[in-house]
Amino acid sequence: MKNDQATQLRQLIEAKKKSAVAQSQKSARSISTSRKAQLDKNKSQPLESSLNGLKTIAITGGKGGVGKTNMSANLAVSMAQLGFRVGILDADLGLANIDVLFRLTPKYNLRHVLTGEKRIDDIILPGPLGISIIPGSSGIQALADLPAGMRQILIQELGRLEELIDYLIIDTPAGIGDNVLSFVLSADLILAVTEPDPMAYTDAYALIKTISRRKLNQTIYLVVNKVRSMAQGQEVYETLQTVSQRYQLSIRGINYMGYIPYEAKIRNALFLGSQKPFVLEHPNTRGAKCFQNLAKKLLYHLRRVSRGKIERDTQDFFSQVLTNNSD
Ligand SMILES: Nc1ncnc2c1ncn2[C@@H]1O[C@H](COP(=O)(O)OP(=O)(O)O)[C@@H](O)[C@H]1O
Ligand SMILES: [Mg+2]
Repeated sequence: MKNDQATQLRQLIEAKKKSAVAQSQKSARSISTSRKAQLDKNKSQPLESSLNGLKTIAITGGKGGVGKTNMSANLAVSMAQLGFRVGILDADLGLANIDVLFRLTPKYNLRHVLTGEKRIDDIILPGPLGISIIPGSSGIQALADLPAGMRQILIQELGRLEELIDYLIIDTPAGIGDNVLSFVLSADLILAVTEPDPMAYTDAYALIKTISRRKLNQTIYLVVNKVRSMAQGQEVYETLQTVSQRYQLSIRGINYMGYIPYEAKIRNALFLGSQKPFVLEHPNTRGAKCFQNLAKKLLYHLRRVSRGKIERDTQDFFSQVLTNNSD
């Protein structure tokens, strides 16, 4: 089934490629108009800093290597630059962890909180602009099998983050396993990251499909990373949108948040020993502007999400994470 859909997805991509040349100039013009309208809209919305409780953003994407961790770090910085208190929960256990991008060395992680050795405040690493970095590591991996007592400790401790943070960015692991879905399904906003590689957006589609089966009427916010042109991002979005409609996924829709260009300076950041996340190190690049615009758009949507729902507290969020995990 998955292969069938993947094949059809690729066929659709091939067909789209043929019409892409003719379309590209036209779509570039229309994107820039609609982007401008969106940005103008964002500008007219004052960004207040306290939003009655912590809001969560799950950064996900299905495939490893698409740029989730890099996205988490640079979004966190961009939101902090707008005056918000931001935290990152590092639930992605890949090689380039959040703490590596921030050049921090965690001594403790969530596991120490679970065992009662440390309080949540003791494990938080201070990043730039007051960003709180919470090293998840092995604590997160074990979430599915936690005994009831430990769950309670975790929920209580993470609940205390509300006093410290307005927005918690969760860097989720690759894949579509339960440990990913538990975070994704509980978050206030799901940001799916993909790139213009068929393997990557086929995996993003599989993730969206899985989400749609587990929770009805979910909006998926999409960002296309590592694009070589603006039109390339739009194309990936249109493909995912078309296929989701064709297979009648029970999502509310895919909301395209734009693209981040492929930047050699991002690619080489670790290799060149950069001391800071990309947007701080290279604030005047097109890539940095894209991260900043993305942060504003997400904040705009998060405010709408929070207005439309009954406020729930942070302990409630983490209870949901654990419940979703043990489904
Ligand atoms: N916009 C970009 N341009 C160039 N390289 C990028 C970009 N975004 C991410 N990368 C690079 O891609 C690789 C994977 O990124 P990472 O954030 O670790 O992905 P993930 O967390 O999804 O596994 C890293 O080497 C990173 O520097
Ligand atoms: Mg990662």
